[in-house]
Formats: sequence, structure tokens, C-alpha cells
Amino acid sequence: MRVFQNAEDLGNLAAALKEAAAVKKNRFQYQELGRNKTALLIFFNNSLRTRLSTQKAAMNLGMNVIVLDVNQGAWKLETERGVIMDGDKSEHLLEAIPVMGCYCDIIGVRSFATFESRRDDYEEKILNQFIRYSGRPVFFMESATVHPLQAFADLITIEEYKRKARPKVVLSWAPHPKALPQAVPNSFAQWMNAADVDFVITHPDGYELDPKFVGNARVEYNQMKAFEGADFIYAKNWSCPGVTRPEDYGKVLSKDMSWTVDAAHMAVTDNAYFMHCLPVRRGMIVTDDVIESPQSLVIPEAANREISATVVLKRMLESL
Ligand code: CP
Repeated sequence: MRVFQNAEDLGNLAAALKEAAAVKKNRFQYQELGRNKTALLIFFNNSLRTRLSTQKAAMNLGMNVIVLDVNQGAWKLETERGVIMDGDKSEHLLEAIPVMGCYCDIIGVRSFATFESRRDDYEEKILNQFIRYSGRPVFFMESATVHPLQAFADLITIEEYKRKARPKVVLSWAPHPKALPQAVPNSFAQWMNAADVDFVITHPDGYELDPKFVGNARVEYNQMKAFEGADFIYAKNWSCPGVTRPEDYGKVLSKDMSWTVDAAHMAVTDNAYFMHCLPVRRGMIVTDDVIESPQSLVIPEAANREISATVVLKRMLESL
């Protein structure tokens, strides 16, 4: 596997889930695979889970790990071609990327949407330059539009906790004070569409996700109706994807607190599990009682980030 961006990059998902279960039983069984190999993890944005779980995954596989926080200690990078670099940016990404590739075997990159241009974000301008110029396999650690390591961990968690063969899974928008990217809901939708689940997306008017991620999901604008009989509730905020009104891309259109997931919402489900990728704003996305309830899977979900990353790095090591 040279690139990990989308669900299809893993091939057969059922096989990938089986592999994840085997890795979870003995996460150190492939220590030889990564011996004398180096993973470089590049962060343009903050992280807790991705940083720790991916480092742990690389160590599980016997790899060496280098972590670079681009905005703390590296030269400030120019990303546009054709500019006169007379400002505060000392190095161009077009030199920095191949240099980074010299020091490692596999590269992971986190680079969020900037919301400056929908086209640039949805064309994955930064990550595609890493794919093109690094000369190394590249895995996405949350890009402008996708967060596949999270979605794979979410799928592993659903597989572990599901009580019926084809559970009802609901992705629900919830309020947040700041504009957040669409990467997590996009990937979650993509992966649920690829999995064997009854998938429903619910959000206020104007928050329609890009059709390429919505796929065959049912979209229900009445949140309570969407929650009825659900087995899993996946809450997440996202800013306006700009599908129906491109000029609203990246804006916060609503802070409607009636969309906060509380006990009344959970009461209409089929004793659903609550999921969120974290970090989460309590009182905005979800109430304390719901996230602290026995039905909350936020910690097992975060723990499975180590498993999803181990499988992905293992696949990349196997293809070197
Ligand atoms: N869920 C997730 O990616 O968490 P971090 O932003 O802390 O890495």
C-alpha cells in the first residue's frame, strides 16, 4: 500500500477487520517487519490521539519514529508555487518534502483544511504534494477532507460492539463554538458506506456533506427521527461544507443547542452506544451523563486508534 487515504486503499474491509482483530490479540508479532525502518510523522496541526497512537503503532512494529511539528522549530513553509519569497516563509514545501523523504521509509502527514479555498482543500493540495514529491508511501493522519485512521478505528469499534449483523449507525451533527473541518464526518460516511451497516446522516439544513462522501446514506433532517432505533450514535460537529452554497464554505451556520446529544436523544435509540472521535466539547456536542454512561465508547474508540495505525503501517511495510 503506497497511499492510505480512503477505505478502498485497504482492499477487502472484512479482511482488514480480521487483521485488526489478530493484531489486537498480539500487537508485537510483527516486530521484525519494521526493524531499521523509520516512520516520519509530520504535524502541521495539533494532536493528542493521532500523535500517540501512531507512534505506539510504529513501535509495535519495531520501527524508529521521528515526529516533526512543522510550526514549532522547523522553518516556516511556503506552499504556493511562483511566489517571491520575501516574507516570513524561509523554505518551500517543494524542497522540504523531498528532504523529509531522505530521512525515512514511510511518511504520515496531518494537515487540516484552511477554509481559504474549498477547491484547494477538496483537491488535497498539501497531501498530494507529499505523495508526489516525497518518494515514500504516505498515510493521511487527517487531511483537509479525510481522517481514515480515525474511521478505520471507528469501524473496528463498531465491529467489536455490534449486537446485530447489520446495526443502524447514525452520524449526527452537533453544535460547536468554532468552525471545524469536515474530515472526520467525510471519512466516517465513506467507511460506513463501505461497511455492512444501515447508515443515516442527520444535520441541520446547509450542512450537507459532499455527495462523494454521502454516497448511498439516508439523510434525515429531523435528528430525533434519525435516532429512533439506532444502535450507534456518532456525534460530530462540522462547519458548512459549501455544497449547496459555496460562499458559506467553512462557516458556522448554526449553534442550535437542541442538537446536543443528551439523555432524551439517547432514549429514542435501541440503547445505542455513543461514539465521538475526541477531543469533544462537553455541554456542546454531548452532555456529561451521556459521555460518562456505560454506553459511551469514546475511550475504546481512541484505544483502537493504535490498532488501525498498526494495520496500516504493517501494510505499508509489507509493500516496501
Ligand atoms: N481523534 C483525533 O484525531 O484526535 P487528535 O486530534 O487528538 O489526534
